[in-house]
Amino acid sequence: MSDIARLRSFITDTAKIVETETREAAILAQLAPKLTALIAQDDWLPEAYAVTGGARYRQYLLYADPLDRFSVVSFVWGPNQGTPIHDHGVWGLIGVLRGEEVSIGYERRADGSLQARPPERLAAGQIAQVSPESGDIHAIANGLADASSVSIHVYGANIGRVRRSVFDPDTGTAHDFISGYSNDTVPNLWPDHTQS
Ligand code: FE2
Repeated sequence: MSDIARLRSFITDTAKIVETETREAAILAQLAPKLTALIAQDDWLPEAYAVTGGARYRQYLLYADPLDRFSVVSFVWGPNQGTPIHDHGVWGLIGVLRGEEVSIGYERRADGSLQARPPERLAAGQIAQVSPESGDIHAIANGLADASSVSIHVYGANIGRVRRSVFDPDTGTAHDFISGYSNDTVPNLWPDHTQS
């Protein structure tokens, strides 16, 4: 199996998991090895969904479940690009396909401000999770100052359509945002109908 078939297989596996399992921890536990296997090979992501550009990072929708139970997104980071502090409201798994990422989780202090946890560096092939149950506020950035990085994220919703929050770290004040996506078309998962 090679190329886009890896992504197609991952999407099928994810659909089967969310079809039979609703507990967040169980979904994450079952999905983690699938994402690890997907990002272990870097031969399947169409180049159009790995393109950097502009002042901001790109987030390309690769697949959205028709029932909004999950979505798969490629995040492409130029040198030194990163997100503001944000939440998700749903479970998520992050896997680094190329380069390196730095994820910083945050906890609320008693006064409402946000306390940063130690940065977590993720190299290509490594995964991390976000979860409303165990820690949902974080910021992610490219870990490389001189090259782009690409990570593959899976969320328990169509994440680009979810109303969620960005935070001021000093005050903890939240502002609504809906991220949307950088692309207008999604990958063809069946480019050759003779492929299994
Ligand atoms: Fe995030």
